[in-house]
Amino acid sequence: MYIFKNMGNNKISYQAELSELYRTGKTIGRSGAVVNATGLSSINNLLTIRNIILDKKPRKTLEVGLAYGGSAVTMLRSLSDVHPDTEFAHSAIDPGQESFDFAGLEIVGRIGLEQKFHFYGGSSDLILPKLTEEGKRYDIIYIDGYHIFENVFIDMFYSIKILEIGGILLFDDCADKHVKKVIRFINRNLSGFMQEFSLDKYQPAKSLIKKMANKMGYRQICAFKKTADLPRVWDAPFSNF
Ligand SMILES: C[S@@+](CC[C@H](N)C(=O)[O-])C[C@H]1O[C@@H](n2cnc3c(N)ncnc32)[C@H](O)[C@@H]1O
Repeated sequence: MYIFKNMGNNKISYQAELSELYRTGKTIGRSGAVVNATGLSSINNLLTIRNIILDKKPRKTLEVGLAYGGSAVTMLRSLSDVHPDTEFAHSAIDPGQESFDFAGLEIVGRIGLEQKFHFYGGSSDLILPKLTEEGKRYDIIYIDGYHIFENVFIDMFYSIKILEIGGILLFDDCADKHVKKVIRFINRNLSGFMQEFSLDKYQPAKSLIKKMANKMGYRQICAFKKTADLPRVWDAPFSNF
C-alpha cells in the first residue's frame, strides 16, 4: 500500500526529484534537514494518476493530503506535460505540513511549479466547504487525507459538489474499511450522480500477485466519474450500505 512495498521498483521517470524521493525514502525539509518519508502514495497510484491526466488533460486538479508531495508532484508534472500553454493549476489541502518540515511544499518548489500550485493549510472538513462557497470547480480530485470514515465521507460529499460534471473523483486505499464504506454509499445511493469505472487501462502492468489480489476484489485506488450535480431530491430512496 505504501512506499516500502515499492522500494527498489522505481519507475517514476517523469520527475527526477520524485524518483529520488521514492528511491531513497528521504527528502529535504524547509529547515534543510533530511526527512524520512513514510506514507507516500504507492508508485502504482502515482502512475495511474499520471496516466489519467495524460489521457483526460484536466486543467484544474485538487488533492486532499499533501504529505511529502508525491502525488502533488505527479499531478503538477503531468499537467505541465499535457499543457505547454501553462493553463493549469493544482491545489492541495493538508493541516499537517509543519510536522513534515514542510517537505511537500519544498519539493513542489524544487520542481519549479509553485506558481501553478495552491496550498490550503487546514483540515479538509473546514477547507472544502470554503472552496465550495467560493465557487471553485475541479476536473480531478484525489482523496488521500485522514482515512477515517467520517472524514472520508465529508471529503467525498464536498468533492462531488466542487467537481465539474464529467470530472473524476479518485480515492486512495479503497480496500480500507473506512474508505470502502464510503464507496459503498456512493454506489448504493449516488449512482445517478457518480459512476464508478475501471482503472485497468491506466494502471501499470500488474505482477501475478497484484492480478490475484485484484481478482479477489482488492483495489488500492478507485475512481468515479461525475454525471450530475447534487443534491438528490428530498424524497430520494435510501439504500443501506
Ligand atoms: C497518506 S498521506 C498523503 C500522501 C500523499 N497524497 C502522497 O501521495 O504523497 C495523508 C496526508 O493527509 C493529511 N491529513 C491528515 N488529516 C487531514 C485532514 N483532516 N485534512 C486534510 N489532510 C489531512 C496528513 O497530514 C498527510 O499529509
